[in-house]
Amino acid sequence: MRAWSRAERAKGRRIGFVPTMGSLHEGHLRLVDRARDHADRVVLSVFVNPLQFGPQEDFERYPRSLADDRRLAAEREVDCLFVPETAAMHAAEPLVRVSPGPTAETLEGAARPGHFAGVLTVVAKLFHIVEPDLAVFGRKDYQQAVLVRQMVRDLDFPVEIDVAPTVRELDGLALSSRNAFLDPDQRRAALALSRALRAVEQAWRGGESNPVVLERRGMEVLRIPGVTPEYLAIVGEAVRPVKQADARAVVVIAARVGATRLIDNVVLGEGVAGDVAVGGRA
Ligand code: PAF
Repeated sequence: MRAWSRAERAKGRRIGFVPTMGSLHEGHLRLVDRARDHADRVVLSVFVNPLQFGPQEDFERYPRSLADDRRLAAEREVDCLFVPETAAMHAAEPLVRVSPGPTAETLEGAARPGHFAGVLTVVAKLFHIVEPDLAVFGRKDYQQAVLVRQMVRDLDFPVEIDVAPTVRELDGLALSSRNAFLDPDQRRAALALSRALRAVEQAWRGGESNPVVLERRGMEVLRIPGVTPEYLAIVGEAVRPVKQADARAVVVIAARVGATRLIDNVVLGEGVAGDVAVGGRA
């Protein structure tokens, strides 16, 4: 992989990189398009990273569809599909990991201990292997995107980070590989996440900026049969609580629908309608 990247760069080509865990959907493919807009060659990696799953989490069951991933990557004209073996990425249990710091202690980090150390460790390894000029992440994993930016800044990685808007189905459901676990009833229930984001956004547009009131409004919409809310919070750009919600504040949500844990978010000033809509469900 590194030899390929170096050969391309020696020809003066800029390399864009989209790291994924596979089970590709339109959300990932939009990241590919975005990488292509800013680079001459696009590398896409597929690696289900064991380091970022807790012992009780869904590593074994995480959807894997490499044949489809290969086809979709080829259709989207990915120049290099990088699919490392687990044994090659982690020849031994790693003794050294990236310590993600305080931003990883709340929300997803609190719910999934060790998750962000696992994410940043594998992203750091992938950056060293692929040596991209630019890497594109999705804003659906908002806290992850913030942490990747912090790692790149604090550890001086020579990589530009681009964060792309969330891609949603027409009815508002954010695209996620884990949506594959939802049966039709659960899929309907899962719309409570984007509805709750919209409800908070509407209340904010109506003049409410107190985060406690906004969070209560969102929870009213999220709490429906079949959905177990984990958190709904309004945070600032560095994932810290805000005293007043302004246009840059982000509403972040996590909830379980059946056994499936889903996350979503919206930047208040951009709104759910500011995300990219695809697909046929209205
Ligand atoms: O967002 C993901 O799919 C993963 O967390 C990532 C960035 C590919 C690291 O395994």
